[in-house]
Amino acid sequence: MSEFDTVIAGGTIATAADVVKCDIGISGGRIVALGEKLAGGARRIDAGGRLVLPGGVDGHCHFDQPTGDGSVMADDFLTGTRSALCGGTTTIIPFAAQQKGKSLRAAVQDYHRRADGKALIDYAFHLIVADATEQVLGQELPALIKDGYTSFKIYMTYDDLKLDDRQILDVLAVARGEQAMVMIHAENTDCIAWLTERLERAGKTGPRFHAVSRPMAVEREATHRAITLAELVDVPVLIVHVSGREAVEQIRWAQARGLKIFAETCPQYLVLSEDDLGKPDFEGAKCICSPPPRDKANQQAIWDGLAGGVFQVFSSDHAPFRFDGPDGKRVAGADAPYRKIPNGVPGVETRLPILFSEGVVGGRITLQQFVALTASNPARIYGLAPRKGSIAIGADADLAIWDPERKAAIRNADLHHNVDYTPYEGLQVTGWPVTTLSRGDVVWDGGKVLAQPGRGRFLPCETPDAAKPAGRAAWQR
Ligand code: URP
Ligand code: ZN
Ligand code: ZN
Repeated sequence: MSEFDTVIAGGTIATAADVVKCDIGISGGRIVALGEKLAGGARRIDAGGRLVLPGGVDGHCHFDQPTGDGSVMADDFLTGTRSALCGGTTTIIPFAAQQKGKSLRAAVQDYHRRADGKALIDYAFHLIVADATEQVLGQELPALIKDGYTSFKIYMTYDDLKLDDRQILDVLAVARGEQAMVMIHAENTDCIAWLTERLERAGKTGPRFHAVSRPMAVEREATHRAITLAELVDVPVLIVHVSGREAVEQIRWAQARGLKIFAETCPQYLVLSEDDLGKPDFEGAKCICSPPPRDKANQQAIWDGLAGGVFQVFSSDHAPFRFDGPDGKRVAGADAPYRKIPNGVPGVETRLPILFSEGVVGGRITLQQFVALTASNPARIYGLAPRKGSIAIGADADLAIWDPERKAAIRNADLHHNVDYTPYEGLQVTGWPVTTLSRGDVVWDGGKVLAQPGRGRFLPCETPDAAKPAGRAAWQR
């Protein structure tokens, strides 16, 4: 009997720190040996000189999340995790979303039912706190954090989700007390509503006006306000889906002052632009997401933030709505005004290939930065490290064997989600995972999905070190 269930031989492993030629020994779903020329292994996988990376951790994606407008997310935990693993991602963290007037615990129970028996890879949940009642802040949220739901998202916009500043302060104080990580969607809701009213009056309702209604200033102001509220409470926060220069400037300014402000960006802000929203025949709707994609100069600012360390996390923000059919982008009609078009773009499968190709192959970031942004940092910041997000003794054997030279154009027909389009159709990328392992099981190989529905396990999260306060805040003294 070999001491290893599996040996991956002949690869170059990359972590957030190192790139080194090394074999990997796997037993019981975990990495148990790293070394040169490892012998044995009931199964041997020849990496053939390719890269072996930690499986991606997608810290921001939406699967089977109930919506309030009659639309339906096209991906559930089966198709969403299938798409994820085909793109080299082995852990996903979607959102259990509270509805206003309803219990947060009930949202979590419902979300478990949606994942049970379907997920192909491991998953944790973020919470969405939409109704900051005394019951939620005093009882439900602290209890859920103790149960392993240690991160949650709050919104500064969207009528059915938004919290005002006073509520945000209350929520941040709970996060401080319980050591949870707060993700903030930062856009100024009143400015968006004011601009939208005027655009509608002028008949400017096509998809391209989505970007006009949510200009950079709207995101910049809210980002600064989120930072200020976090500073007052003295709690770390993570600003999600940052889209351009002015928000980056606010975050960089806060980080330079020593505030613990983390930041996330996504593929759409690197390769899509506001011009995509102007495509004819309602095609622009395919790229409607919030904040909206911006312009080339803003894309460059996001690259500078990725290379310079402003961003810790690179997520997909996969929000899967079909283009055709009655329950996706056209839920309010074939030519609906932009404000009635469901927000979000799909991208859980293309997240890693786009960043690898445009970033690593394009010479903008290092391979170690790629690993940190896509796997190690989200695992650490959301309390899943050291089990997920790295290649280390004792870590789960969640791995992507990556062909750094495979060149292909992204085609929706080749993807594995349940969405009928990709906003990245035709984008040439270099690099794609050829084999994905989840807890030592080969789940993607030779162009085939090999995982059984329900094999994915729920991961309770630790309270992240990043969320631990350093002493008492001024308002507590
Ligand atoms: O447009 C987006 N980003 N849709 C998904 C929901 C969110 O705010 O992340
Ligand atoms: Zn958001
Ligand atoms: Zn999102």
